[in-house]
Formats: sequence, C-alpha cells, structure tokens
Amino acid sequence: MKLAVINFSGNVGKTTVARHLLLPRIPGAEMIAVESLNADDGQGQALRGRQFGALQEYLQTVDSVVVDIGASNVEDLMTLMRRYRGSHDDFDVFIVPTVPALKQQQDTIATLAELAQLGVPASRIRLVFNMVEDGVDPAQAFETLLAFLAEQPIALANTACRLGANEIYERIKGSETDLQALARDETDYKALIARAEGAVAKLALAQRLAVRRLAAGVVPELDACFAALGLASSFAGQADAAAES
Ligand SMILES: Nc1ncnc2c1ncn2[C@@H]1O[C@H](COP(=O)(O)OP(=O)(O)OP(=O)(O)O)[C@@H](O)[C@H]1O
Ligand SMILES: [Mg+2]
Repeated sequence: MKLAVINFSGNVGKTTVARHLLLPRIPGAEMIAVESLNADDGQGQALRGRQFGALQEYLQTVDSVVVDIGASNVEDLMTLMRRYRGSHDDFDVFIVPTVPALKQQQDTIATLAELAQLGVPASRIRLVFNMVEDGVDPAQAFETLLAFLAEQPIALANTACRLGANEIYERIKGSETDLQALARDETDYKALIARAEGAVAKLALAQRLAVRRLAAGVVPELDACFAALGLASSFAGQADAAAES
C-alpha cells in the first residue's frame, strides 16, 4: 500500500495524519517526508525534478509507504506528476486531510480538482475530516466542500473518517511516540507519584499519566477513522494478488 498525504493547504494535519493515523496501521510501512528530501543539498524546500525522479525510483523498490508532502512542495509535486505522465499511479491512494476553516475547504477543493485533472479517479482519493470539534456535525462543518463533491464526485468523502481536535498531537509533536504503545503502557503512575520525592518529580509523572489517558482516548477514534477510510479492502486485494503470484 503506497499512500500520499497531500493538500495545497498548510496546517491541515498532513503530518499528523501520516504519522498517527496511517503509519501505525499499515503493516511494514515506512514514512517519507517530502519536505526533508535532500534538504541538505542547499536547494532549499523546493522539490526539484531530480528529487522527484529519486522519489519515483524509490517508490518502485518498497511495498508500503506513507509519503507526507509538505504544503510548500505540493505545487511542485503536482507539476512534476503532470510532467512524468502516469507517475500518480505509483500511489495507490491519495489521502487528503482537511479542516473546517473556509479557506482550507477551498484549498482542499483545489487539491481534489488538481488530482482529478491529473487523471486520479475518485476511488483513489479519500478525505480525512480533521479537527472536528465534539458535537459538531461534519456535514455542517464541511458544507462548502461537501456541496462541491455532491456536484462533482471526484473524491470519496466519508464523514465517519473524522478526527477531533485533541491536545495529544501537540504534546507529542516532534517525538517518535507511538500512540498505541502509549495507550498500552501499564505503568502504575499513581503509585509512582505517591512514592516520588518533590513536586517536580510528581508533576513529570502526572504529565505522563495525562498523556497516556489522552492516548487511550484517541486510539479508538484513530482506529474508527482508519476503518472508515476503507483501505483494508485495498490491502485484502494486495494480499490476494501476492498469494496468487
Ligand atoms: N486533530 C488534531 N487536534 C489537535 N491538533 C492537531 C490535530 N491535527 C493537527 N494538529 C496540530 O495542528 C498543527 C498542524 O498539523 P500538521 O503539522 O500535521 O499539519 P501539516 O498539514 O502537516 O502542515 P504543513 O503543511 O506545514 O506540513 C500541528 O501543531 C498539529 O499538532
Ligand atoms: Mg507537515
């Protein structure tokens, strides 16, 4: 399974979705962050043709990958996918996270339109509705985007594929923390806090307890969102193909 996580908009949760929703649920997958590709060769952020060539070649050599495309590279990537005709076929599915703000919904529409223009069929483009507050109906929060899709069904939009706003992502940002492992952590923090000497030590443990509780709360939501993406049937297809060959 090869996934690209993409949106013209910054800050919609591409990296969060790639790292915490997709990567842990795709067996054997590795993550590639396009913003960091050859970042040390002095060419800055822009995704050059040579780097794209290298990415395409690399994609041929791996089975499962999640490619996180930083917003600053999306335009370049789209241009290159147009130039290297058919290269979008290297990705099984394009995952497009979006958030309720109107500007982001409009950018999301532009992203979907661009993918459709490249020739990616609706069945290979799936939305993730991110940062939907509790009690908010996604159908209302994403009215603009969903109205567009009702007219032009160029992507799959299942509002069950939603993630609430949760401070855990901020808390563990930049670390390699695995939320599932964190949720499974059976450390008796209450006992450790009782035994700890001093407020600083107690507070550090209390923070770890809070993070574990947040993780335990968010993992079922991530599982449900992933199931709603419907990628599992794509895996089944892949497994069948592997068994036949
Ligand atoms: N569901 C969520 N709840 C709370 N915070 C979130 C959620 N999703 C993302 N965030 C936070 O929003 C910010 C932007 O998320 P992220 O870095 O994943 O976006 P991005 O689309 O990858 O941005 P960029 O285009 O800059 O790469 C981060 O601080 C992240 O922790
Ligand atoms: Mg990012």
